[in-house]
Amino acid sequence: MNDFVFHIPTKMVFGKDCLSKLNTEMKPFGSKILIVYGGGSVIRTGLLAKIKDLLKDDFEVFEHGGIEPNPKIASIRSGAAKCKESCIDIVLAVGGGSVIDASKAIAAGACVDFDPWEFYGGPRRMIEKALPLFTVVTMASTGSEMTCGAVISNDETCEKLGRGGFPVFPKASFLDPELTYSVPAFQTACGAADILSHVMESYFKKDLDFCLLDRMMEGVMKTVVANAKIALAEPENYEARGNLLWAASWAINGLFGGGSRQVWSCHPIEHELSARYNMTHGLGLAVITPKWMRYCMEADPETRSRFREFGRNVFGSADEEEAVEDLEKFLYGDLGLVTTLKGAGIENIDAEDMAASICSKGSINGYLVLDNKAVQKILKACI
Ligand code: NZQ
Ligand code: ZN
Repeated sequence: MNDFVFHIPTKMVFGKDCLSKLNTEMKPFGSKILIVYGGGSVIRTGLLAKIKDLLKDDFEVFEHGGIEPNPKIASIRSGAAKCKESCIDIVLAVGGGSVIDASKAIAAGACVDFDPWEFYGGPRRMIEKALPLFTVVTMASTGSEMTCGAVISNDETCEKLGRGGFPVFPKASFLDPELTYSVPAFQTACGAADILSHVMESYFKKDLDFCLLDRMMEGVMKTVVANAKIALAEPENYEARGNLLWAASWAINGLFGGGSRQVWSCHPIEHELSARYNMTHGLGLAVITPKWMRYCMEADPETRSRFREFGRNVFGSADEEEAVEDLEKFLYGDLGLVTTLKGAGIENIDAEDMAASICSKGSINGYLVLDNKAVQKILKACI
């Protein structure tokens, strides 16, 4: 077992009544708030108006809407500039992972006099300071509400990069399952695929000495599989939405890493796809993951026993081949996601060029080390 420190400073406020605690939690941090939101779902559902109404007596409210899925650096730059111009005290993200990630980068960008992209590319500066950040989560997916990481895209350099820093941990995150009722079926499916992938990225590891975490991860994966199906059939099922929401927060908050220094395998490949084709993150993972599993089993038969354990304990599969098939049945059958990049409307990828970019700093040192050739093979299987 590796040594580790598990420290999450974010207060998680869960349930139907959570927004009633918003003002109390934020008041100690100042009076000027920038609400950051996405392409309009919070306007359509009435959530933005509701939050503005809640805040109006205690805060001066500013807005920064229009954050794109796979958030772009231009939106971060303009958001950080707004914070500086209006002397904003607090950033409040209202949305899914893209809005929360953008808000983290805005909160950090507001405290520096350089371009916020320098946290990500080029010098990759440290995030040493940020405005206090709060989140109201509208979708079960990335778990960004309980982490200090943020993934941002730069169209000029065609990069999608992640960066983290303790100052951008949200001070508090508010999770009301009812706010996720309006998430469309496709995004519900992509969110579930993302949550599952976050757990799988930790589950497939070399050190198999932390069985507590294995059993917890299997429990979370089974929960996601069962509740995603219910949420798709009954979008307003509170328990299903609530289970997905809480699973999302725990899937990626570091608990399951257990001090492991092994890097993730499918996420670096997917980030290249969403950087180049603006692909929806969870869909990209759904296409890649079974191909990655098959690649591992073929390249190194020693990986088979872990895939067998995964299948047996999550799906009740008879063996490792059936484990991949059962995962595919879930992703492509129950969730209704497409099996290939072509199915997602992406034609003619340049697998060589993409692999060169993914491996530009070396092989992916994941469950199985993936060098340039391996990444190409997985990408070609996704076409
Ligand atoms: O933009 P709006 O209009 O709000 O609509 C969004 C968006 O179109 C919609 N949506 C969200 N909540 C809704 C809703 N529609 C109706 N009702 C609601 N309640 O859903 C669409 C997708 O939203 P987005 O925030 O992009 O999705 P997600 O939460 O999956 O975030 C994806 C981003 O997070 C990054 C991904 O790479 C991608 O950029 N990730 C962040 C991570 C992190 N911070 O740790 C880790 C992840 O692995 C991931 O890389
Ligand atoms: Zn993810």
